[in-house]
Amino acid sequence: MCGITAYIGDRDAYPIVVNGLKRLEYRGYDSSGIMMYDGETIHLSKTKGKVSDLEEITENDPKRKVGNIGIGHTRWATHGVPNDVNSHPHFSESENLVIVHNGIIENYDTIKKELISRGYSFRSDTDTEVLINLIEEIKKNEGCKLGKAVQLALTNVIGAYAIAVFDKTKPNELIVARLGSPIAIGVGKDNEEFFVASDASPFIEYTKEAIYLEDGELAIIKKGRKIKVRKIEDDKLIDANIQELQMSLDQIEKGGYDHFMLKEIHEQPKAITDTYRGRMLADQGVIRMSGIDDNLSKFLNANRIIIIACGTSWHAGLVGEYLFEDLARIPVEVEYASEFRYRNPIITPNDVVIAISQSGETADTLAAIKLAKSKGAFVFGICNVVGSSIARETHAGAYTHAGPEIGVASTKAFTTQITLLSLIALKLAKEKGSLSKSAVNTYLQTLQQIPSQVESMLSIDDKVKEIASVYKDAKNCLYLGRGFNFPVALEGALKLKEISYIHAEGYPAAEMKHGPIALIDENMPVFVIATKTGHYEKVVSNIQEIKSRSGKIIAVVTEGDVTVKEIADHVIEIPETEEPFTPLLTTIPFQLLSYHIAVMLDKNVDQPRNLAKSVTVE
Ligand code: M6R
Repeated sequence: MCGITAYIGDRDAYPIVVNGLKRLEYRGYDSSGIMMYDGETIHLSKTKGKVSDLEEITENDPKRKVGNIGIGHTRWATHGVPNDVNSHPHFSESENLVIVHNGIIENYDTIKKELISRGYSFRSDTDTEVLINLIEEIKKNEGCKLGKAVQLALTNVIGAYAIAVFDKTKPNELIVARLGSPIAIGVGKDNEEFFVASDASPFIEYTKEAIYLEDGELAIIKKGRKIKVRKIEDDKLIDANIQELQMSLDQIEKGGYDHFMLKEIHEQPKAITDTYRGRMLADQGVIRMSGIDDNLSKFLNANRIIIIACGTSWHAGLVGEYLFEDLARIPVEVEYASEFRYRNPIITPNDVVIAISQSGETADTLAAIKLAKSKGAFVFGICNVVGSSIARETHAGAYTHAGPEIGVASTKAFTTQITLLSLIALKLAKEKGSLSKSAVNTYLQTLQQIPSQVESMLSIDDKVKEIASVYKDAKNCLYLGRGFNFPVALEGALKLKEISYIHAEGYPAAEMKHGPIALIDENMPVFVIATKTGHYEKVVSNIQEIKSRSGKIIAVVTEGDVTVKEIADHVIEIPETEEPFTPLLTTIPFQLLSYHIAVMLDKNVDQPRNLAKSVTVE
């Protein structure tokens, strides 16, 4: 959680740091701040609110923008409420040192008490201010350089961090370090300038060369010198690997759409194609994925597959359960990573664990992976963000290639994760012989139609908007689906609640009669997936039950449906496809519906309250 940026070089640091923070607001946006050093004085500007609020402060006082070195922060509060004082950056007691921090220092209270006993006082409630004072205390006592003081301080803390530290007495230098929270360093020409950020998006227009720090590494960044990277544990110097960035600027901009979420919904035909491009030769019935091919025996001999993930990725994992069990006949369990990691699960070396994460940085998923690895399981990662922590921590994996997803509400991440899971399930089905060659071919050819079918679904936007206008003031909503589309019901409800703050629940349609049916009256909109291939008659009965209790029915049906059309208040049609792929189509109207309702309610679609894109805290 939280985004950090920094710049050191010859350019004006302010626009680089502030624009960088705007690109990182997906990581947190309850407060923000910037430190600028003008060669003599440190100017600290910070405020509760978004980066645009911060800009108002600096606009009114231009000296706060001067300098060639700056560090910035956009916050998602952990310790201390979001207010001006708790916003980062934080000064040390002497006001010579300044820090920004993404993560949590778990033993901050013990360290704070010790520092208070040594005469330190604290302005904020944050764990971060404790860390910068610990660094200052060590630097003073040991008489060492900043880099060494940071390294020693970090060996004393428990928790997670990505930090950038500045020292006014050594203003040509920045120290950055990470453990559990990401940090990328953009390297400018001839080492004349450096950029630091939680991901590479803030500096993509300045350099394509970046170093991604690994967990437990610290970098000493000096203008005009090669970066030195050391292990925090033993101070050992290591060779930093400079990577060529693939990301482009237009990928991270809105491209004419009002919101990133809408742009990302519309990117799905391309994103799905990019997921299977080069991996599937539909005409020949071939599926090639090196991460699977190289570890095929592990999958084929697995006792079971355990899927671990959080949020939307967990919903994709549930679709994965249906795919693997139905197509490849492999038993699957789907676990919330946050529960799995703490409940002493039974894992054996014969289990294959699949971890799914868009960001590749979700703390609970990462911890669950480490646990599974420690018990000898083979762990396969499905991530979107290339080079992310989960991508590196897993034994093998595959990227979804969805492109950057900036909107906090996941859309294309979900459909591309399902696409990838479909490919893996079909590959294993083919290898195991649980599906005939011709059945696999048919599935692959059908999958190839999905991008154009999603495209056609996007053209129903006006209809969805009309439905949104009818139900935008609802206080509660139900989402129902069965089989492959039960997870879509969960995902539809999650999309609505996270961006419009309307209470919504997803259920397997048949579970309605075990409780939720009591909620139904004329004020309850019920969104039901009733496609031709998924227990259609049973779902139609559920729809009748809702109708007879005066609930409002918005049904997602297969093109040409007659029965549901007669009962439902509104119907949205999807093109025909094989049942396992229906989630790729049924989810689209729910994404659009949530989007339009949130816009109509004037909510912040891309940055909903209390949320962050990448949840790097427990
Ligand atoms: O990056 P991840 O896929 O690991 O993130 C998991 C969840 O935090 C994420 O899917 C979250 O639920 C989204 N806000 C859903 O739209």
